[in-house]
Amino acid sequence: MKLSFTLLSLFLILNTPFTASANDKDLLKTAKALFGIIPAKQERPDKITAEQTELGRKLFFDYRLSKDGSTACVRCHQPQFYSTDRLSQSTGFNNNKGARNAQSILNLKYQTIVHWRNDRINIEEQALRAFTTPLSLGNSSTEEALKRLDLAGYSPLFAKAFPKTEKPLTLENAATALATYQRSLTTRAPFDKYLEGDIKAISAQAQKGLKEFVTVGCSSCHNGPAVGGRMMQKFGVFHDYWGITKVANPDKGRQDVTKKDEDLYIFKVPSLRNITETAPYFHDASAKDLDTAIRWMGKLQLNKDLSNEQVSLIKAFLESLKGELPKNFREAPTLSSEPYAGPNI
Ligand code: HEC
Ligand code: HEC
Repeated sequence: MKLSFTLLSLFLILNTPFTASANDKDLLKTAKALFGIIPAKQERPDKITAEQTELGRKLFFDYRLSKDGSTACVRCHQPQFYSTDRLSQSTGFNNNKGARNAQSILNLKYQTIVHWRNDRINIEEQALRAFTTPLSLGNSSTEEALKRLDLAGYSPLFAKAFPKTEKPLTLENAATALATYQRSLTTRAPFDKYLEGDIKAISAQAQKGLKEFVTVGCSSCHNGPAVGGRMMQKFGVFHDYWGITKVANPDKGRQDVTKKDEDLYIFKVPSLRNITETAPYFHDASAKDLDTAIRWMGKLQLNKDLSNEQVSLIKAFLESLKGELPKNFREAPTLSSEPYAGPNI
């Protein structure tokens, strides 16, 4: 039921008239309605939030918090790769391999869905669980994770970031700090200037690509300020996705989480901001480059064989979504000097 509703709304959106002769202004107006601008100035966090953000930043970069000292959030969400790791499957604690491709944690502020299968309520819950999952930091228990935080010298920082709480050092507070930090990481791109009315901020090619992106129907799923991140959709609306991507063991997506028929092959519609920097693509890393990902999307989601020109125009548009990394992500924080405490504490 839910799926057919989704397909119906997709059909309606795709059939909404968009005049091919639309001039620059019409295109800008359409784009403004579909996406939202990431403001040049983010609202300033109050004092507590600033301390929480900085605490979250330290936690994000700290390898001492994993059971074997091998893993921190930043291992799989690296600044140099725009918060991904260039691997098909990430490796975490004990070199355990994750089931899916690492997603970027940039611009989460503008997204509502967490994980490819929407299996976390919010990014607080995501962070909370990362401390003890064997695919991530690998601590055997909450107590062990808390002990590592204490041994790495975090107690005073938690007390400062959560001053009104009786027991500041908790994993819930660590998760709050990590989520606060991650929500502060947004990237403004030339496309945002375009949306503000500076049409020349993106190239003529990118403008044509934007028009293609809208007219062929990409924006019926990839929309909002993050150009995605707000809905779950079937991967392979018109064809079985593995028929095109040639993966051997197709992932059932959300169905493995809910066990409901209508969730078969349903995945998060990812954000396309900074997409030029985060290859390989798709939950299973099956597309090694962006041209391939665009072409497959056309076929699988819209039943269209995009021409080489359409692919390269759309790519030019996607290039205009690349922004500068925030300084508090590009640069690693200063951590306390306590050594990694060892695997058995
Ligand atoms: C071993 C590598 C690894 C580590 C370590 C890791 N992540 Fe991830 N992260 C991933 C992968 C892989 C995914 C995609 C998982 C999925 O959707 O099934 C992901 C997804 C996410 C997402 C969801 C993004 C989205 O677009 O939905 C968030 C948020 C996130 N990670 C934050 C963190 C934080 C915070 C930490 C540290 C506490 C962390 N990660 C540690 C690999 C890692
Ligand atoms: C019906 C909804 C829908 C439409 C229409 C759609 N997409 Fe997607 N897109 C998705 C979903 C769902 C995924 C995630 C698939 C997966 O990996 O399981 C995705 C993934 C992608 C990715 C890979 C992102 C990453 O981080 O790996 C790119 C690039 C992309 N889409 C571009 C496009 C382009 C370009 C178009 C238009 C030609 C388009 N999409 C049309 C739903 C859609």
